[in-house]
Amino acid sequence: MKDKIILAIESSCDETSAAVVVNGRKVLSNIISSQIDIHTKFGGVVPEVASRKHIEAINPVVEEAILEAGITLDDIDAVAVTYGPGLVGALLVGLQYAKGLAYSLNKPLIGVNHIEGHICANFIEHKDLKPPFVCLVVSGGHTFIVHVMDYGKFEVLGETRDDAAGEAFDKVARAIGLGYPGGPKIDKLSKEGNKNAIKFPRANFHDNTLDFSFSGVKSSVLNYLNKMNMTGEIINKADVAASFQEAVIDVLTENVLTTCKRRNLDKIAIAGGVASNSALREKLTVEAGKNGIKVLFPSPILCTDNAAMIGSAGYFELVKGNISSLDLNAKPNLKLGER
Ligand code: KG4
Ligand code: ZN
Repeated sequence: MKDKIILAIESSCDETSAAVVVNGRKVLSNIISSQIDIHTKFGGVVPEVASRKHIEAINPVVEEAILEAGITLDDIDAVAVTYGPGLVGALLVGLQYAKGLAYSLNKPLIGVNHIEGHICANFIEHKDLKPPFVCLVVSGGHTFIVHVMDYGKFEVLGETRDDAAGEAFDKVARAIGLGYPGGPKIDKLSKEGNKNAIKFPRANFHDNTLDFSFSGVKSSVLNYLNKMNMTGEIINKADVAASFQEAVIDVLTENVLTTCKRRNLDKIAIAGGVASNSALREKLTVEAGKNGIKVLFPSPILCTDNAAMIGSAGYFELVKGNISSLDLNAKPNLKLGER
């Protein structure tokens, strides 16, 4: 079969990204323009600011992706773009740009689910990875346990009932004065702390579910900090960070391993921004190893939002003939598996 070259665009949150990907696995370019510095001033992503910055960045980012890939726009077989879930104004910038490009080049448009993109980052990193496997998707907005049954075929087995894992990291980081985005900062500070210093709660639903809840552990950290402040005791931030992190990765690890047992699967892939977390990678690898289960994760640049992962997901949709119409709209609450 002739190679399929996909130009992919991602703008669902605070990264404007464009990439050129061949056959869903080989990345020719992956340009990411991050707005983190701008949003840091506000302590989190400001949707209206994000949309405006995407408009400024999209054209140069796409041009750079084409240039770095050493191709021309005529060489591409399809334009893939994230159309949900995400911030509606942010999504619309990438989507309208992609539609204009697909129309003017007379190439197919492929709408991609952002979460599916995160999962597919593993196909880029691990060239031999094939379904079935369990994927733990842990990002700033989402926490899912997914049974990846085939390319583009998913079953969600567990999800968060309140905060996403990354959101909990960001909120706790803000509470202990580490700033935004909090995940990487908690990860780093935790290395200097004692993960057993404070026993924060692990949510337990008693109903056989694989769902998560992180608002309890977050509130418990906030209560702890308040109590310490009121009694004038010195707070050891590294211990708080390490103990909080341990509480989160404990439940992530336990639920993913339970999923493997229930579905008789022996491969776990992690995806999303929190998949960069060093303690999660280590604990999951060790615990899974005890059960003969292999753990895979993408390199950090493919964990965070990027267009290469959208190009990979777009390829698997293209080969299945899932082409989108030019009236495709942004879907801020798009579910995994829904089109
Ligand atoms: O996937 P992502 O880049 O964007 C979303 O789609 O949400 O994930 C961003 C999230 C943020 O909450 C950030 O704090 C978290 O991933 N994150 C981490 C680490 N690196 C990024 N959380 C824990 N440890 C890390 N090393
Ligand atoms: Zn994401």
